[in-house]
Amino acid sequence: MPLKVWYNGKIVEDPTVPITCHALHYGTAVFEGIRCYRLTGGELGIFRLRDHIDRFFRSARVLRMNIKFTREELMNACKKVVVENDLDDAYMRPIAFYNFGRIGLNVKNENVDVAVFAINFPSYLGNNAVRVKISSYRRIHPMISDPRAKLSGHYLNSVLATLEAREMGYDEAIMLDLEGNIAEGPGENIFFVKDNVLVTPSSDSILEGITRDSVIKLANDLGFEVQIRNVSVHELECFDEAFFTGTAAEITPIRQINNITYRVEASKEIQKYYMDIVRGKVEKYLNWIEIVK
Ligand SMILES: Cc1ncc(COP(=O)(O)O)c(C=O)c1O
Repeated sequence: MPLKVWYNGKIVEDPTVPITCHALHYGTAVFEGIRCYRLTGGELGIFRLRDHIDRFFRSARVLRMNIKFTREELMNACKKVVVENDLDDAYMRPIAFYNFGRIGLNVKNENVDVAVFAINFPSYLGNNAVRVKISSYRRIHPMISDPRAKLSGHYLNSVLATLEAREMGYDEAIMLDLEGNIAEGPGENIFFVKDNVLVTPSSDSILEGITRDSVIKLANDLGFEVQIRNVSVHELECFDEAFFTGTAAEITPIRQINNITYRVEASKEIQKYYMDIVRGKVEKYLNWIEIVK
């Protein structure tokens, strides 16, 4: 079955890019990862679509990209690819990239292509609690690039950390920031649990995840207080639990970091509540869901 992709405003089957494409050589692209769920009511709903598209435009600004489409057009494109590809639960990937063939690094005023595709994509780290290694790679620092922007080139840092962790027999990595505090996973933010307190790094080296923001907002419903602060690597022994958050990984409990093991009770409770919310079971958060018509 060909993949039907929204490409510069039209649905195109299996589009390709030329070998000279600037983004292929220099990572000059911005993207989003967004999930769509079959709701308990039977419709399809996209979780926090507008927030993802807003971040997409913010990332594009960092790369001085001129996106020729409006937020509404891109939101509709996300819905369209789910329907066109006859998907149920789905993962959507909008991407904007410099697609021109000239060699050189000044991308200003150059051609930007925009595409959105959707695929079926189960939870990124699987359904079990994961084992995690503190990476020898540090997360990109704000003096090096802008970690808050979701730029394709940043993911080289994440790929190297992932390769290292997997080669050492772990499921995932955690990167520290340049100051040595906990930053995040290669494609996930991180939370720690101590009694009824959730702690998440305030590091300015993280991508500020939309799932992280959702957990910060829903925590109180389950009786948790939230602290957003520096987390030292030496503090890891003091926590009861840890979990990752991200659109791809959803909520993934962590059962081990290096040689420290954690319980997974509160993490599972938060995971269940989050899944109820994305499936439209919690009235209070229905405004986070954009229905696909
Ligand atoms: C580096 C990084 N951190 C965190 C996240 C989680 O962000 P979100 O919850 O918005 O998907 C992602 C995924 O987009 C990511 O790539």
